[in-house]
Amino acid sequence: MRKYLVVALACLAACSQTDQAAHTFPPAFDQAELFPGGETSVSALPFASLEKPAANMADALKPNFHAGKALANQPWVKAPTTTTARDGLGPIYNARTCLSCHIKGGKGNIPLDNDSPLTTTLVRLSVPTTDALGNDPSLITHGLIPHPVYGDQIQNQSISLAHQLRNNPSAQNLAHDVAPEAYINIQWIESQYKYPDGSITALRRPELDVRYLGYGSFGDDTLFSIRVAPSIHGMGLLALIDQQDLNALADESDANQDGISGKVNLVWDVQAQALRPGRFGLKSNKPTLEMIVAAAFKNDVGISNPLFPDQPCSSSQADCLKQPNGNDAEGVELPQHLLDLVVDFNRNLAPLQRDEELSKAVSKGRTLFYESGCHQCHQPSFKTQESTKYPHLSEQIIWPYSDLLLHDMGEALADYRPEFLADGKEWRTAPLWNLGYHPKVNGSHVLLHDGRARNVEEAILWHGGEAQKAKDQFVHLPKSDRDALIEFVYSL
Ligand code: HEC
Ligand code: HEC
Repeated sequence: MRKYLVVALACLAACSQTDQAAHTFPPAFDQAELFPGGETSVSALPFASLEKPAANMADALKPNFHAGKALANQPWVKAPTTTTARDGLGPIYNARTCLSCHIKGGKGNIPLDNDSPLTTTLVRLSVPTTDALGNDPSLITHGLIPHPVYGDQIQNQSISLAHQLRNNPSAQNLAHDVAPEAYINIQWIESQYKYPDGSITALRRPELDVRYLGYGSFGDDTLFSIRVAPSIHGMGLLALIDQQDLNALADESDANQDGISGKVNLVWDVQAQALRPGRFGLKSNKPTLEMIVAAAFKNDVGISNPLFPDQPCSSSQADCLKQPNGNDAEGVELPQHLLDLVVDFNRNLAPLQRDEELSKAVSKGRTLFYESGCHQCHQPSFKTQESTKYPHLSEQIIWPYSDLLLHDMGEALADYRPEFLADGKEWRTAPLWNLGYHPKVNGSHVLLHDGRARNVEEAILWHGGEAQKAKDQFVHLPKSDRDALIEFVYSL
């Protein structure tokens, strides 16, 4: 709430509509809220898609956007092939294309039952550190100690056809083939939440069910983190939020004693070769869009590139290391100019406009959202920085509903797997923009980092830690008010 006070003091005369809205609490509704990506926002008609270019992007940039989209959509194949431009898949990987996880630019999904393999969700891993001084080079560049054999991500696919088909994977049968690191399934643990008014909601949380380990046992102390692919719309706008604006929202030692701290992660930037504030990834574990896209190419698809020139195999994965690669004359599978196209495709993906008419319930829900304190982490709006390089993304009023900071969300959501300054209970505030469109975009209903929530109500009920107070406010509301708040979140 600090922000409103500052704006109110600085704005005694001649204020814009947005500034005036900030005088009152909750702030008065502003028409600009209907355009979550400012002038980049595109219509959700005739169908909702999160893979459209920014509405105000110059026509001259569109061919590159579509070329980047084609690269994000194109299935990579095993090397060597005659089409050298798209070979180099794996040898171990999670998916053949970017958009097979970020389906149509939206969220991934997680299997409903224990029989289907994990496809649009990643499992990260690491081992605990006893290096109190933090001298291990991995702590500096990865913010954690990768597993000595499996690295920091389980690649559950490989170029072996028998494994792709999950065809009788006995060690003997596949002795000379490159094994994926593991087959992963999910077991759901059911529970219930009982509201103070007596009504009951079913909850579930995932547990890993690893069926085949390609490279020996993990070891007892291994730390795991299940992460569903988030949506990738509006990335260029998030990249242009001034770090000072995020720092201003952080309150790491909770100096204002509102129970909410908010912390900036400091993470390794391979381009700068230095620690930089993080804002991408579910623990704000990557500093720039270039880096998260390049890391995804290497780790998720197994495509080496100028930022990450190595194959995804660890030094103990001999079969993986000896496979032919798809390197070009520069020694990488994806040259810089093609990487740039995919980064710019991600940068220019537009948020969708909201419905023009706010229903009574949505207006009510909006008030309750602020009154419950949701906005304290789900920061409604920012103005992007001035940018001559990306004029269409420059100085836009955007409504992501996230402070991109780390918050302790309590034991129930903890993965106990630290990454840089993010501890095992901290997560980046999930942006809520366009949340209600996800089922329409690609059928995904799942929320929270590991997809345990099947709807907004369940997502709120899992909030704890710094968000306990907001959750308590929510559960004590009468049912009709709870429904209104939920409808507001879906309307974003
Ligand atoms: C196997 C599924 C999968 C594939 C394939 C994949 N991603 Fe992701 N992506 C994820 C997950 C999971 C995260 C969150 C990562 C984390 O928290 O560490 C993510 C994060 C991102 C983000 C940051 C989103 C945010 O809100 O901060 C971007 C951008 C992104 N991916 C782009 C790509 C691109 C480009 C490719 C192709 C080169 C790709 N991804 C391939 C699953 C995937
Ligand atoms: C202390 C900060 C904080 C407060 C307060 C807070 N949230 Fe969150 N919220 C988060 C974080 C962090 C996540 C991501 C957690 C995860 O992925 O496990 C999240 C995730 C969510 C999600 C899931 C979004 C997605 O795409 O997965 C919804 C919905 C949500 N919050 C709604 C609310 C509502 C409604 C309120 C108020 C009742 C609220 N939150 C209060 C920090 C907060």
